[in-house]
Amino acid sequence: MAIKVGVIGAGWMVKYHAAGFRAAGAEIVAVADPAPGAAARAAAEWGIEQVFESVDEMLEKAAGLDAVSIIVPNKFHAPLALQCLKAGKHVFCEKPPGLSAAEVKEMVDVAEKQGKTLMFNFNNRARPESQAMKKYVDDGTIGTINSAQAKWIRRTGIPGFGGWFTTKAMAGGGATIDLLHMIDLSLYFMGYPEPAHVLAKTFDTHITDPGFKGPWGIPDREGGTTDVEAAAHGFVLFKSGQVLSLQVSWAEMVKREEVSVVFQGTKAGGKVERLFARDGYDETAIDTCELYAQENGNSVDRTIITEACEDMGRIHSASNFIDTINGKAEPFNTPDQAHKLMLIIDALYKSAETGAPVAI
Ligand SMILES: NC(=O)c1ccc[n+]([C@@H]2O[C@H](COP(=O)([O-])OP(=O)(O)OC[C@H]3O[C@@H](n4cnc5c(N)ncnc54)[C@H](O)[C@@H]3O)[C@@H](O)[C@H]2O)c1
Repeated sequence: MAIKVGVIGAGWMVKYHAAGFRAAGAEIVAVADPAPGAAARAAAEWGIEQVFESVDEMLEKAAGLDAVSIIVPNKFHAPLALQCLKAGKHVFCEKPPGLSAAEVKEMVDVAEKQGKTLMFNFNNRARPESQAMKKYVDDGTIGTINSAQAKWIRRTGIPGFGGWFTTKAMAGGGATIDLLHMIDLSLYFMGYPEPAHVLAKTFDTHITDPGFKGPWGIPDREGGTTDVEAAAHGFVLFKSGQVLSLQVSWAEMVKREEVSVVFQGTKAGGKVERLFARDGYDETAIDTCELYAQENGNSVDRTIITEACEDMGRIHSASNFIDTINGKAEPFNTPDQAHKLMLIIDALYKSAETGAPVAI
């Protein structure tokens, strides 16, 4: 029997979730969104039969729902995931997992208690480059990753002023929590080690400057709040002795948008990178997936050629959720990893606030 999915939140990411769920054989039976007309518009566009203006109503009336997909502002991730898990649904939740590690711990515990699948949309893990690189990690080619550098940097990428993205109470923070994908991807390659200490500094230099607004996001809100960071630089030391440095920004004067993980292993180094021509536009993006080794006294660079993936793994990530429920695939991410990631995010913000290293 096909898995029946209800979508919560009718924004632009629905197209990727819908394509991925359907590719894995699931049915999308309902969509819920409290904004007037939003669910009906998404339903018409994506061929979804049942429309609801509240999640309570969808859970009550959409018959036979097995799973939900949560695509709403960050503040609602945890409460909606908890509600749906308690109602016996599997949950696929957009990133970030929640506003804090404490929230995510509760989600992890309830998913375990209910025996339901809880996964997060760390879609960058599902990119062909990331999956290709992970094979070299798993087969021992790279050895232990001693050090990694995670970057998602934008020059003019503030996603609207005064809306939920720039309101700490709604988003949990700014660029750091929004663009946490490369931190997650680094940890994925490093084997998700236990973090020990975190040191970070955030910057809000350009956060209210209209010259740094991105070409996407949500409309500006007159009189809304803008109290999040535009950029963060940080360092994580793990109990294993591995280290991660990171740079994340919506607004920094860099050459071009860069999305990358670079690492140095005991047997080989590597890089997974996407360079955008301009912030958010990817028709001329350059994707790189490379290994760096010393062989027979020579420096050897290997280029791993993968298929082009314009959607940055979003469709494959959603289909992996359905395949996981059906027992056809291993999950791309686990609840415990999401919790560990959020411990690091919490510590980055705490260190930036206190000006001191934070022990986890
Ligand atoms: N993985 C990715 O590549 C990626 C890309 C963009 C956004 N996102 C994530 O997707 C989520 C949504 O972002 P967005 O840009 O679509 O935001 P958005 O502001 O466009 O919101 C999406 C929809 O959620 C609805 N909504 C708000 N509260 C709701 C609630 N309590 N119940 C049901 N619906 C509710 C809104 O009415 C809106 O239609 C965020 O968590 C964001 O981080 C992920």
